[in-house]
Amino acid sequence: MYEWIKALHVIAVIAWMAGMLYLPRLFVYHCQADVGSKQSETFKTMERRLLKAIINPAMIVTWLAGLYLAWAGHWLAAGWFHGKFLLVLLLSGVHGFFARLVKDFAADRNTRSEKFYRVINEVPTVLMIGIVILAIVKPF
Ligand code: HEM
Repeated sequence: MYEWIKALHVIAVIAWMAGMLYLPRLFVYHCQADVGSKQSETFKTMERRLLKAIINPAMIVTWLAGLYLAWAGHWLAAGWFHGKFLLVLLLSGVHGFFARLVKDFAADRNTRSEKFYRVINEVPTVLMIGIVILAIVKPF
């Protein structure tokens, strides 16, 4: 059972991360499109669908499966798990921030620059590298 849930966890992680890496890339292009243009409206649909159909459900499955693994595997007191938990909380915070940006774009209220979106595009990548090293190498 544990191994099956771990497989589910990794599948959900892949879907969550794919969305978290792609969504800010859409913001980079969206902020260059004129408000009210056909392009801008297409980006709104793509962002909404990516968030609702992939990123949100994948995050929920990742959390549920991860918490089961932590409980069933008796990892709750492990040092690597504490580090991973902290980074996953940060990643979930970034997820919440991205959801707010989707709303802002949907209401044509974006005020941020292309440079800003290029920089935040890297944040989920950096967090993911730390999380995977902690989960697999378990350095402490
Ligand atoms: C959402 C909260 C999360 C919790 C509570 C959690 C917890 C866990 C636990 C307890 C394990 C089992 C470790 C083992 O059996 O050795 C695990 C495995 C794993 N987790 Fe997570 N995790 C979460 C999110 C994530 C995220 C966001 C990523 C990647 C970005 C990730 C990547 C992995 C990987 C790659 C494994 C497989 C490790 C192995 O096979 O040794 N997890 N997770």
